[in-house]
Amino acid sequence: MKTKIFAMILIVSALFAACAPKENRHGNYVIKDNVIVFDEPQRVEGQKSVLQFTVDPIENVRVGFIGLGMRGYDAVDRFTYIDGITIVALCDIVPDRVESVQTNILEARGMSRAAAYTGSESWRQLCERDDIDLVYICTDWIKHVPMAVYAMQHGKHVAVEVPAATSIAECWQLVDVAEQTQRHCMMLENCCYDFFELTALNMAQQGMFGELIHGEGAYIHNLEPFWHEYYDNWRLKFNQNHAGDVYPTHGLGPLCQAFNIHRGDRMKTLVSMSTPSYNGKKIAKEMMNVDEFANGDMTTTMISTEKNKTLLIEHNVYTYRPYNRLYQLTGTDGFANKYPIEGFTLLDEKLPAGFIAEGQHLNPHAFVPAEVRDKIMSEYLHPIAVEIEEKAKEVGGHGGMDFIMDYRLIYCLHNGLPLDQDVYDAAEWSCLGELTAASIANGGMPVAIPDFTRGDWDKVHGYKHAVK
Ligand SMILES: NC(=O)c1ccc[n+]([C@@H]2O[C@H](COP(=O)([O-])OP(=O)(O)OC[C@H]3O[C@@H](n4cnc5c(N)ncnc54)[C@H](O)[C@@H]3O)[C@@H](O)[C@H]2O)c1
Repeated sequence: MKTKIFAMILIVSALFAACAPKENRHGNYVIKDNVIVFDEPQRVEGQKSVLQFTVDPIENVRVGFIGLGMRGYDAVDRFTYIDGITIVALCDIVPDRVESVQTNILEARGMSRAAAYTGSESWRQLCERDDIDLVYICTDWIKHVPMAVYAMQHGKHVAVEVPAATSIAECWQLVDVAEQTQRHCMMLENCCYDFFELTALNMAQQGMFGELIHGEGAYIHNLEPFWHEYYDNWRLKFNQNHAGDVYPTHGLGPLCQAFNIHRGDRMKTLVSMSTPSYNGKKIAKEMMNVDEFANGDMTTTMISTEKNKTLLIEHNVYTYRPYNRLYQLTGTDGFANKYPIEGFTLLDEKLPAGFIAEGQHLNPHAFVPAEVRDKIMSEYLHPIAVEIEEKAKEVGGHGGMDFIMDYRLIYCLHNGLPLDQDVYDAAEWSCLGELTAASIANGGMPVAIPDFTRGDWDKVHGYKHAVK
């Protein structure tokens, strides 16, 4: 009898085991029912969400810059046009770069020289100062998170270039430290502030495209003229060792704002595919004398959201094509497209009475005529850009969008408002790097996208820029 019962238990357990979802571990993720699921750390005690996070108004924002290369030099330059800031400190591993900013920007504008930090570890001393509110990081990707974390742990708010983080662990680290220290951590995704994207966002928020169902974004930019310009060849070295969409945020950021990501919807699953490396391999052979190159020339990723909306994201920094930051919104009632042609498809009734000439009808199969598009671009300019448009175009930085971004960051700090991009955006937009690599490594297998808000993705209703 006992043997019979034992045999039955064995059979039942075997049946259970056969029916239970199959799970196998690969480093920091498991494959469960044919979906890649990354480990998600728990929120530790005392750590608080920073959704809609604000701090008291900071009348004069004291800034320290780390990394004064191609991007950082221009960032300091733009800040000299913003009121209510002080440039307190400058840091670069290369002493000449600090001196160049002191002389060619600060002194040339009649401003005081800033405290100077040079050498590979002196950024820590900058972060440790007690007279800085904001640390603005423009170094290579692998230093972003160590610097941002250290700055927040020393009481500073952080603005960090794109992508903010290079791995899932780093994305969680940024979120956790921002929540533990209750500091702002904004990724500097400037493409959210270009005039077309802002205008289209404003129109989407007014329902002019109906329900948004699909978006497309990309970073397609042949970097051949730039590979030699990066400090210590950091970018090609990174790409040599990393498959996947390593630079996703320019395409993804503006879409996530239009699709209310973690403000009512969330990115849930992605699949990614990549071509072999041809041109990347060639440039790596020339510059580094290596034969292996992990990053495929063209990487394509599809994302589905909790509400079953879809996003398409592309990355190609290697082949000969016109620059393309493809920004495209498809709605039930309309369409917006930025590259290669800026335009909208709209229904007549979505425009106010008198906006188009009497008797004129918009073609629902075509872009609106150029004069209608131009009128839309001026009359639907996003309210946050209206006051600052002229100055932004004068100061420049990718046609003005970089200045609007910096201006908004300081405006929100001056007024104690939530920043336009929070640490969850930084993590969500940056996490594609490792997630796409995992999908590609597993033949385009679906990957569950972590919920960096830990369940709060539908607590805020709709994306908004805060205004006083
Ligand atoms: N948002 C955009 O449009 C845009 C455009 C270009 C670059 N970026 C981003 O800006 C960042 C910098 O890119 P870049 O093109 O200026 O590269 P870069 O190589 O020209 O600049 C990096 C700088 O960091 C400095 N640096 C390196 N290690 C350091 C350390 N330990 N301490 C202090 N300084 C250090 C280097 O000396 C260099 O001056 C990257 O994250 C990149 O992705 C963003």
